[in-house]
Amino acid sequence: MKTIIVTGGAGYIGSHTLIELLEKTDFNIVSIDNFSNSDKNTYTRVSKITNKLFETIELDLCDKNALTKALNKYESIVGVIHFAAFKTVPESVSLPLKYYNNNLTSLINLLDYCKEKNINNFIFSSSCSVYGNADKLPVTEETPLKKAESSYAHTKQIGEEIINYFAPSVSSFKAIILRYFNPVGAHISGENGELPISKPNNLVPIITQTASGKNNLTVFGNDYDTVDGTCIRDYIHVSDIADAHVKALIYLIESKSSEKVSVFNLGTGTGVSVLQAIKSFEKMNNLTLNYTIGDRRPGDVIAVYANNEKAKSILKWEPKLNIDDMMLSAWKWQQNLNKGLTN
Ligand code: WQD
Repeated sequence: MKTIIVTGGAGYIGSHTLIELLEKTDFNIVSIDNFSNSDKNTYTRVSKITNKLFETIELDLCDKNALTKALNKYESIVGVIHFAAFKTVPESVSLPLKYYNNNLTSLINLLDYCKEKNINNFIFSSSCSVYGNADKLPVTEETPLKKAESSYAHTKQIGEEIINYFAPSVSSFKAIILRYFNPVGAHISGENGELPISKPNNLVPIITQTASGKNNLTVFGNDYDTVDGTCIRDYIHVSDIADAHVKALIYLIESKSSEKVSVFNLGTGTGVSVLQAIKSFEKMNNLTLNYTIGDRRPGDVIAVYANNEKAKSILKWEPKLNIDDMMLSAWKWQQNLNKGLTN
């Protein structure tokens, strides 16, 4: 049976991608995770949603011997989707070497294993943060990358470069790099979503925790040169991101790609401000959110949103959910978290 390895499958985007893979393909799915930033109960929720079983391996991808030993038992691995990485931007600013070591060693070990075992289809989880403070919006895949604002973003820039130099050295190897904009929201069932292991830094979990009385939202600056003074982002539903991974995998495996490495933006193409996101949350969930306006957050780009035409035309991918759907699903998930229904 053809096997797909999903690293970081217990994580936020990884687990939603497991759901889409299990529901839309017949591959044998194997998830690798070391639970450094995820919870193994997530696997139970994925099986409950899909009513499907899949294999799981607990290991650190930085341990090449352990990786080799674990994967050698699979006869026909045809692809790898690589999510596993540290991704907390503020932590990456204070602990850069932790990020360079983990995010790059794990990638190199995986690529090395792919070469050894003739695994020729590789999908890399990248981020809109590789663009830095882009001069022109919306950003396309050809937009020049500016200086990364954090070592997290830098590990994604370096990771893309490693793949660009590695791919031509292995004759049949092809890769797709997916640059996510801001993944938010939760599975439509309310049974899976973002599960911050520690205090979240990103907006939507802070909104839903604030609405639950578990956090206090501060809007980081309302004096930017934007429609309402707050920063603009391209929020995209995590299930739309997950769907893009299935389409990218099929595109690679069916050898439709003529390029050794292809890059795709995964965004809606619509910029939404922080205050607009808050208003959507309040409208969709019929509640009033308490928040304060604070100082700007260092490192924040004023605005970034995607030109997603390439993914739409080549991968035949279309984001289906809008900011209202994202905020409705995020709140449904938070309410289940509050009730302890997620264990
Ligand atoms: C969004 C907006 C904040 C929290 C990061 C990573 C990116 C990707 C997504 C991994 C900004 C504002 C936030 C708060 C606020 N991660 N905000 N109060 O920084 O756009 O992107 O997460 O791939 O790589 O860089 O996301 O959610 O932190 O911020 O006002 O308490 O919300 O200033 O304008 P960001 P975010």
